[in-house]
Formats: sequence, structure tokens, C-alpha cells
Amino acid sequence: MNVLNQLTSQEAMDLENKYGAHNYHPLPVVLSRGEGVYVWDVEGKQYYDFLSAYSAVNQGHCHPKIVNALINQAQNLTLTSRAFYNDVLGKYEKFATEYFGFNKLLPMNTGAEAVETAIKLCRKWAYEVKGINENEAEIIVCKNNFHGRTTTIISFSNDIVARKNFGPYTKGFIKIEYDNLQALETVLVNNKNVAGFLVEPIQGEAGVYVPSEGYLTKAKALCEAHNVLFIADEVQTGIARTGKLLAVDHENVKPDVLILGKALSGGVYPVSAVLANDAIMNVIKPGSHGSTFGGNPVAAAVAIAALEVVRDEDLAENAETMGQLFRRELNKYIKTSNLVNLVRGKGLLNAIVIEDDEESETAWNICLALRDNGLLAKPTHGNIIRFAPPLVITEEQVLDCVSIIVKTLKGFEE
Ligand SMILES: Cc1ncc(COP(=O)(O)O)c(C=O)c1O
Repeated sequence: MNVLNQLTSQEAMDLENKYGAHNYHPLPVVLSRGEGVYVWDVEGKQYYDFLSAYSAVNQGHCHPKIVNALINQAQNLTLTSRAFYNDVLGKYEKFATEYFGFNKLLPMNTGAEAVETAIKLCRKWAYEVKGINENEAEIIVCKNNFHGRTTTIISFSNDIVARKNFGPYTKGFIKIEYDNLQALETVLVNNKNVAGFLVEPIQGEAGVYVPSEGYLTKAKALCEAHNVLFIADEVQTGIARTGKLLAVDHENVKPDVLILGKALSGGVYPVSAVLANDAIMNVIKPGSHGSTFGGNPVAAAVAIAALEVVRDEDLAENAETMGQLFRRELNKYIKTSNLVNLVRGKGLLNAIVIEDDEESETAWNICLALRDNGLLAKPTHGNIIRFAPPLVITEEQVLDCVSIIVKTLKGFEE
């Protein structure tokens, strides 16, 4: 095999299996090209992408404006580290803080790093502003959360596979039921050391769990009443995915700390960020936190372009309209189905629940059949399949996709 030759799908999978760590279980399809809502495998077969790289490719694959920003910047200056200023970071910070309505932005690369940053920011604020005794701050998190893969983050996960044999775990987290205001209030009332409440506005990885209406508003009010930071992890739900710029916008909630990643670059480059106002962000001082790549000029240029695309192409509005159409059309089938219980979600972050136990292979097999029929999706947990296409999808494409999904599901009906 010549490494420069185009591989067959089988050859590419064999290479990954032999030389790569087995930390994922990919659907057997090998992609080599993407454009808008479509991806192509190495044999040239076309698919609708209904995962969007876990909601990173909201703007569509290889969006020319974002790719051009990457190319242009990469030809001038790629990385200086933060030892020096660069001429793009400040422009990006001004643009993004105005865009999301915060005073300051702290740039990182991956979602997990941004979550870690928010945790550190929250703790430092707790000691230096709120006045909690050092090393005693607690952060409330939710059961079935997904915030990434670092040792601290998996310390407060309840996913057995994500945790097992990675201990000892980091202390300082209190886990409560998601979508349970009483549980939140009980902890807040009984614990003076709570510094923050870290929450996904919709639990994506857990299976697209949308909380009850009013949950976020009331949770924010409870946090405010107890001088606790409301930290929204919008790494998956943010940047137009759910039909608003941010998922918290559905309830007009303004987080104290906002965590962004994934679509902040349109999937073109790893870019993440934490945003907050001065009263919080000013606890960060030179030397207290950083990243060699965080805030590099390529990331900054790419993120500006990615956010411009979201605004200029009205992607939040399109996600809202297309999401409603998707659920409405799919519900027509679900009413008559004994295989699918329901479709739930907001905007273009949706999931269907398959009538089967969590351990069953049904959802995986459905995803294989969807692939054969030209649509790529993946189970989140056991019997749940997430549907999250790029937000540039058109009405005609949504209808085509619904017919592919329905045709495939019908093949699994008893
Ligand atoms: C809500 C949320 N937070 C954080 C992360 C971690 O992001 P990354 O994989 O870029 O580290 C994810 C990834 O799926 C996520 O969905």
C-alpha cells in the first residue's frame, strides 16, 4: 500500500484499527469530502450528515467563507503563543463579546478545555470575590451530564465507561437531578460553599433531554438569590443549533459564565471560549491560566468568519423552521409506529427514542441501515438516535431526509 494512494474504505478502517487507540466505535463509513449538508465516502457515495461532527459543523461542511479565512490567515501568521500580542485576537475578542453580550472572552481550543476554564474561573471567583474559604468551593452539576473527557470532568460524570479506572477523582462537585428545581434549591439552601451551577441547557449526549419550560429561568433566579454563578455549557447547544443563537435564549436567560466550542469554528479548527463579565473574568491574572494555542490568529480569524456566517445566513431562524418541519413530518410516522416512541428536541438538535431496551443493538442497526440509505446518524445512548444536520439544510432536503428515515425505520417494524 502506498500512503499517497486513495485508500478503499476497508483499508482506511484497517489502518485505524491497527494503529489507532480504540477510544471510539465509529460507524463503518470512511469519509473523504464534505460540502454543506453532504459528505462523501472514499468510494464516492453521497450521504446526508445528520451528526454534524456532534454539532460542530452547524455552518455546513467546508463553508467557503470560513475555509478562506483559515487559508488567508494561515498564509500570514499561524501561532505566536500568548507570549506576544497578535493582530487578530483583539478583533475577535471585541467581535465575539459584542456578539454574545459579555465584557470579556477567554480563548481556548476544545470544549473540555473551556469547561475546565469555567470551573477554574468559578472557583477563583468563589475565593476572591464571594469569600468562600480556600479549597472549600463546590460546584453543582447534573446527573447524566456530558462536559468532556478530562480527569476533573469525568470525576463528576456518572457514565461508568467514561470513569472506570481513571480515578482518583477530583473533589468539589455536587450532583443533582437534571430538570429538578427542588433538588437545586435544597443544595443551595443547605450549602454555603456553593460557587456555581454548571448545566447544559439541553442535555445533548445524554439523549437530547429538553428540560421543562421555565427550568433555566428559575434555576438562574435561584443561583442569583444565593450568589452562585450560573454556568451554561453551550458547547453543543450553542451557536444557532437549537433555533436561537444560544439555547438559554429560549428562556431569555443570561448566564454568568458561557462556555462555547464546536461550531464556534464551524468545525474548521478547534476553537473554544469562555465568556463572562468583568466582575467575574477579572479574577484571571497573568500566569493563572492559559494555552499555547488558545487565541491563536488562525483560530481568531476562523471564529469571526464562522460567527458571521451564522448571522448573515440566518442560521438560527433556519434551524428553528427546519426543526419544526422535521419533528412535524416525523411525528406523522411516529403516530402509527410501534418502533419509535417519540421525537424530541429544539431547532435542529433532535432525537428519536426506539422502543427497545438500552442494551439492544436496534439503534445501531438502524444507523447502519440509514447509512446504506444515504444518511449518517449515530445512537447517543443505547436506544436513542440523535438527528443534528448542518443548519444550512433546506426544506426540500429535510423532506427527503424524513422520507429516508421513515423508509429505514419501517424496515425495522415488527
Ligand atoms: C455539552 C458539551 N460540553 C463539552 C463537550 C466537550 O467538547 P470537546 O469534545 O471539544 O472537548 C461536549 C462534547 O460533545 C459537549 O457536548
